Amino acid sequence: MTDAYAVFGNPIAHSKSPLIHTEFSRQTGQDIIYSALLAPLDDFAGAVATFRLHGGCGANVTLPFKEQAYTLATRLSLRAQAAGAVNTFKFAPDDVYGDNTDGAGLVRDLTANLGLDLAGKRILLMGAGGAARGVILPLLEQQPDCVFIANRTASKAVGLAQVMGAGKQLLAGGYADLSGQFDLVINATSASLAGDLPPLPEAIFASNALAYDMMYGKDTPFLAFARERGVRTADGLGMLVEQAAEAFLLWRGVRPDTAPVMQLLRGI
Ligand code: ATR
Repeated sequence: MTDAYAVFGNPIAHSKSPLIHTEFSRQTGQDIIYSALLAPLDDFAGAVATFRLHGGCGANVTLPFKEQAYTLATRLSLRAQAAGAVNTFKFAPDDVYGDNTDGAGLVRDLTANLGLDLAGKRILLMGAGGAARGVILPLLEQQPDCVFIANRTASKAVGLAQVMGAGKQLLAGGYADLSGQFDLVINATSASLAGDLPPLPEAIFASNALAYDMMYGKDTPFLAFARERGVRTADGLGMLVEQAAEAFLLWRGVRPDTAPVMQLLRGI
């Protein structure tokens, strides 16, 4: 019997996850079907329950339900606990396992696809919302010199760092508190949605730095800012595909090859 998976979100029509997972299943010969399901804003739990009732084996969760998914899980991975959010469910008859593959997806894109060695590097993470929180632990696991969380509302960054274990390796503050240069600058804010650029100091990029925007599908003021300064840039498409691959691995025990899927998406 074909195993059913889905992504839940609201909105969801734009989701690339069905295409990604369908390609993964074709490539690996895994017999799965994967759909995009619109969950009502006021009944995410009901939508998940119905899917399980119809035999759903697992699911991805996207905006705005990742925090709710965290509370629905009966068991959580360490990385989901650290993220305070769940983007992947694996269902068993009496178990809802919640995982979070976003951070691992980002790190894999940075290291395997973009060729970065994060050990000893200075990382600036812009934003202190859910997107930022989800990637802090996996970034710290790469043993960087430091991760500095910078946020428009400085107190939120400081609070987040405290929750995640602030120290020499994990620093936080407002943009005005930034000093020195960074080898990797990650945009995990929603500023681009309003066409805004976080107030970055002019000389923020170290030589050979990478500017990474978690958004994908359109150019952002942050990536334009970096490009104008001759800095190498990457959007979040690789992270999207890599977090999907991590979920597929959890569900099926097989790691798909992400390169052809990335090529396919870039060509669309
Ligand atoms: P998500 O779950 O996607 O992270 P969020 O929790 O709403 O979304 O967080 C959005 C992040 O983008 C926040 O860190 C927000 O900064 P504030 O905490 O100060 O609101 C940041 N952000 C949004 N618009 C911004 C802008 N124009 N400039 C800088 N940061 C911005």
